[in-house]
Amino acid sequence: MNILKSAEEMKAWADKVHSQGHKLALVPTMGFLHAGHLSLVREAQERCTKVVVSLFVNPTQFAPGEDLTTYPNDIDGDLEKLKSMGVDAVFMPTPDIVYPDGFDTFIAPNKLGQDLCGASRPIHFRGVCTVVAILFRVTRCDSAVFGQKDYQQLQIIKRMNRDLHLGVDVIGMPIIRENDGLAMSSRNAYLSATERQQALCLSQSLEWAQRRVKDGERDVETLSNGIRQQIQAHPLASIDYVKLVDAETLEAVRDLEKPVLCALAVQLGNTRLIDNLVLTPLPAA
Ligand code: PAJ
Repeated sequence: MNILKSAEEMKAWADKVHSQGHKLALVPTMGFLHAGHLSLVREAQERCTKVVVSLFVNPTQFAPGEDLTTYPNDIDGDLEKLKSMGVDAVFMPTPDIVYPDGFDTFIAPNKLGQDLCGASRPIHFRGVCTVVAILFRVTRCDSAVFGQKDYQQLQIIKRMNRDLHLGVDVIGMPIIRENDGLAMSSRNAYLSATERQQALCLSQSLEWAQRRVKDGERDVETLSNGIRQQIQAHPLASIDYVKLVDAETLEAVRDLEKPVLCALAVQLGNTRLIDNLVLTPLPAA
């Protein structure tokens, strides 16, 4: 497995594999890899003949006071996992490689970045778009695989790719969950035993909403109030947002005429967790 640290090394390796006729897929991550990340790696291996995984905790997507300095890491464990999967290259730059002295250019979404996580993390998606655009260019990837766990992030990256003609095939993959339903996340490592138990309110309230929709419920306010009540029944959980929005445009909707994204952000102690589910209306009888 090739470990590439500078932009020049990364570009040279990408040029070499392209000249050999390979297609290259990128899986961007911030490390501390779990089965959710590894499902993206497997998809990348299905899609392309060479795969590069990036490990980079991107400082520009964290606001002051967020968890940049405490973000969990396990470089040795990550490299072990990627090597055993047969990943071809790992790009692990330091912040000064990605943001050298004099760096002055950012890419930010407009409408798609305003609500949901963008409302409570106003600079977050600007950092994400900027680093992903840099990673697309430096790795020279043909495809890039992302998780639907970060649904808004995926929609924003797809739109950036289209708007800026970046030419990457952007692929979204389903959320991988623990056996009890909790969406896998590097941040789950922060949870105490009781917070971990109460964190189930995210997936369980989404499952509740799905059952209500299967029973014929179409009213967004009823669904969102029900989800809130379920979460509020957990004393350690405090709601950042519960939103039901158009699954394509992320705009507010009143009822379930089209697929609706039900997205949650909930604080458990000091840990902010997100989860989501796309609710599809029953076909008209
Ligand atoms: P990170 O949180 O490490 O996630 C890397 C990728 O793994 C993202 O595409 C995310 O959606 C996906 N992922 C995380 N948990 C998942 C799960 N349970 N099931 C499926 N996929 C999952 O997202 C980021 O890093 C960063 O914002 C990044 C895109 C790397 C830019 O810095």
